[in-house]
Amino acid sequence: MSLLYIRRANQLVTLQGNNQKPRIREEMGELGVVEGGSVIIEGPFICYVGTDEGAVEYLSQSRKPVQTIDTEEKIVTPGLIDPHTHLVFAGTREYELEQRLKGRSYMDILQAGGGILSTCKETRLASKKDLYQQSVERLDQFLLHGVTTIEAKSGYGLTIEDEVKQLEVAKELDQKHAMDIISTFMGAHAIPPECKNNSDEYVDMVVNKMIPIVKDAELAEFCDVFCEQGVFSIKQSQYILEAAKRAGLKPKIHADELVAFGGAELAARVGAVTADHLLNISDDGISQLAAAEVIAVLLPGTAFFLREKAANARKLIESGVAVALSTDRNPGSSPTESLPFIMNLACLTMNMTPEEVLTATTMNAAHAISRSTTIGSLEVGKQADLAIFNVPNYQTLQYHYAINHVDTVVKKGKVVVE
Ligand code: NIG
Ligand code: FE
Repeated sequence: MSLLYIRRANQLVTLQGNNQKPRIREEMGELGVVEGGSVIIEGPFICYVGTDEGAVEYLSQSRKPVQTIDTEEKIVTPGLIDPHTHLVFAGTREYELEQRLKGRSYMDILQAGGGILSTCKETRLASKKDLYQQSVERLDQFLLHGVTTIEAKSGYGLTIEDEVKQLEVAKELDQKHAMDIISTFMGAHAIPPECKNNSDEYVDMVVNKMIPIVKDAELAEFCDVFCEQGVFSIKQSQYILEAAKRAGLKPKIHADELVAFGGAELAARVGAVTADHLLNISDDGISQLAAAEVIAVLLPGTAFFLREKAANARKLIESGVAVALSTDRNPGSSPTESLPFIMNLACLTMNMTPEEVLTATTMNAAHAISRSTTIGSLEVGKQADLAIFNVPNYQTLQYHYAINHVDTVVKKGKVVVE
């Protein structure tokens, strides 16, 4: 087997450092950049990271054939990680954009049976083959944008069979597609029309029927809830997440997206791995997230697309909350796979620095999906997931915005985009 030698990057962005815990405050600014640095890969793993002189020395001691990729005018980063997507669903909702532009709100559309519920209707009707095919197209787009691992939530089935169907498709995609997919069960994404007048009945089904089945079939690692006014209450969300925890599923929460609802405080109480959205988080919520070491997953693309004010990333970072970023890829509030564009928005609408956005889409995103020991940085022994961008420095990724600068993507040591 030959070695893959990624040679002399203008900037090799390693993210090396203390990666035991998610990075907070100034740590989010430390990228471990090696100028003129090189990486050597053997099979699916990284076996050398550092100066090019060191790489030449390493290669001189090996008899293996070498395949070289020159990156002299480029930068190399860990493969980007997207820790919050709703990947598997059927159909599109471009007509809703038009309605929203005319003044209708996202919540109004949902409460009238549209929004998530219209995607649910289409997803229930779709075959596994159809869902698989539509999701492959999204995964291919993610890869083209430098993303090598994503989290994917269910939540458009809202019946036992249809939730299982979505999760089984995600599992098959994880096995067959180059992308690594970490699954989250999100039966509590909306109240299905059958239970419109009795949401507690649906919550009981999530807790007593769905969670045990998902766990037994090993279909998910996390459990998420859309904790929001008019969707799942604090009490219902807590009940679901406590049950998930007892079953061995790690909690995540869609929190404080549309109103300040106490979702962040709940995330801290249940020891969630992440609290996501947080556009309307309270000051108390911020300090509780910091104290409980819950990672804030911010989704500035969703705020942009729903034309809401983005989350207060600066206040979160300055209060000691670790921040990760994500597309929130879904058909209603964020129909994009461009994590690099989300990084642009994080800079331009949330004042995050170019260093912070890279940390938020690599090491902190790895922590957000419990993968910090295998991905998120370029270190010897880690999985060889890398993105090569055709820019002279990492600042240009944010400066020359809304352009796909991806040149090459390496996943588990194999070139998957070139
Ligand atoms: O994260 N907020 C709830 N769920 C998704 C949107 C899903 C949809 O509109 O289809 C979100 O924004
Ligand atoms: Fe979401």
